Amino acid sequence: MPYDFTFVPSSLANDALLQELAALYSAHYGIWSAKASRNAGKPVQLSPNRLRTWLTNDSKIALAKMDGQVVGYAIAVQKKLKGFGVISWVTQLVIHKEHRKRDVGKTLLFSIWGFSDHFAWGLVTANPYAIRALEKATRRRCTPERIRRHKRKLKTVGIEQTTYIKDATVVDITPARSCIDTEFFLDHSQLATKLENATTTAPWLMGLIDEGWEWLAFTFHDQPEIVLSSQEIERMIRASDQVTRQAYSRMRVNGSHRWARHTPEEARLIVECCGLSAGQSVLDLGCGTGRHVLALASMGLQVTGVDYVQDAFEATRAEAIRLNINGVRFVEGDARSFVTDELFDAVICLYDVIGSYADQDQNILILRNCARHLKPGGHLLISVMNFEMTQDRAKHFFSLEKDPKALSDLRPSTIMETTGNVFDPEFYLIDSDTEIVYRKEQFKEGDQLPAEMVVRDRRYRREEIERRCKEEGLDVEWSRFVQTGHWENDLGSTDPRAKEILVLCTRPK
Ligand SMILES: C[S@@+](CC[C@H](N)C(=O)[O-])C[C@H]1O[C@@H](n2cnc3c(N)ncnc32)[C@H](O)[C@@H]1O
Repeated sequence: MPYDFTFVPSSLANDALLQELAALYSAHYGIWSAKASRNAGKPVQLSPNRLRTWLTNDSKIALAKMDGQVVGYAIAVQKKLKGFGVISWVTQLVIHKEHRKRDVGKTLLFSIWGFSDHFAWGLVTANPYAIRALEKATRRRCTPERIRRHKRKLKTVGIEQTTYIKDATVVDITPARSCIDTEFFLDHSQLATKLENATTTAPWLMGLIDEGWEWLAFTFHDQPEIVLSSQEIERMIRASDQVTRQAYSRMRVNGSHRWARHTPEEARLIVECCGLSAGQSVLDLGCGTGRHVLALASMGLQVTGVDYVQDAFEATRAEAIRLNINGVRFVEGDARSFVTDELFDAVICLYDVIGSYADQDQNILILRNCARHLKPGGHLLISVMNFEMTQDRAKHFFSLEKDPKALSDLRPSTIMETTGNVFDPEFYLIDSDTEIVYRKEQFKEGDQLPAEMVVRDRRYRREEIERRCKEEGLDVEWSRFVQTGHWENDLGSTDPRAKEILVLCTRPK
């Protein structure tokens, strides 16, 4: 998938981004019709300033990028209605002409809505493809009959959250169509062809629109779900695999994350296992907050921490300066591709950095990068999640291939945001075919909008992780099933405390 899907909260949308989005809109949104009061036949233009006025404090922008350029975006707002739930409204969806029909719209919407349990999801559009994207992303059909039931609520939210719906705006919903007179006179000369294409695959229930009108398209949580094929679900989840990064960037490791409480003991054991002495160098790939970096540097080591979430280690960087601890270096970088000429006496990659990706090749890239940064004779200490214990305690199994709907039925949790205990069997689902572990994580805190994401990971059997290390040219000294912070004891593979497998390797001289 050549596209990169990310989010920006509107509070962080800077002038450069707004300029890029406004330029995309102006070049690709559409053309004024002959009935428009001005500029007939010309592209609909949008200035960055105008775009800024359309952003509310809590809106978020989902971006589809290719080679660093934005080729599509969606602006989403959410409104909680008492007694109903969240109405989630995409107020703008713009895709570059050359990137249409490549599922960019569907994936943008999916990356916003994921498997959320909102009350309603929708948009106002004159483009039937956008409605198909809404249906696919929310796995529900748009039907005027359902939209009509909530007409008043939707209009009220529209008046509050959008600039194109006013008190006087006419909303026309009958059993045969659902549309709204936004007086937005877009050229409709392509509409018949688009409708023809969009209606070959599934029934079209939204009726026809006149120029100046748009469809008011919503789907609702309590509608029956369209069963998507496992390939369709896989494609959407894969495209939003950057979700893992977003999930990590919203995970605030603090006092409630018990697994992170044992830093001093762990630092002592890292030094002992890797035979380190003051002045030697350590690389921590996927360092998170940088807790091990700080603890090791305070023992006199020269430590480089790398994580792709810069926010995670900023506080620790400041703390090192405050405490006058030398030998601390943090780099924002991807553990799969980070490169430096330096070779290290030890590399550590702890707590499930390897395993962050459902795609095994990506995890191996991290392991390979650990190995390549070791001095000959240097040690690598990694910990990965224990699959056997996860499987032994599991309550939910499925096959994405045969029963993709099971994923929709999985209960969401707030684990990453609260305890970080991703081993609670109530909240994970194992794909028996692939052994990928699925969770649905909700994020409510912080300065971003509440979100729900499907997070997938890979956990390992002892034989597999040992084999993978050997394949990277490392000698495995030992591996242990361990409890966080108690790395001396090798527990049984299915001991409920044995969440991690700790592996010590050496790069041969
Ligand atoms: C569970 S945390 C563990 C953090 C740290 N090692 C510790 O023990 O506190 C996993 C970390 O891996 C980072 N991570 C995952 N994939 C990464 C990648 N490809 N590049 C850089 N960091 C990554 C995440 O941002 C997150 O901070």
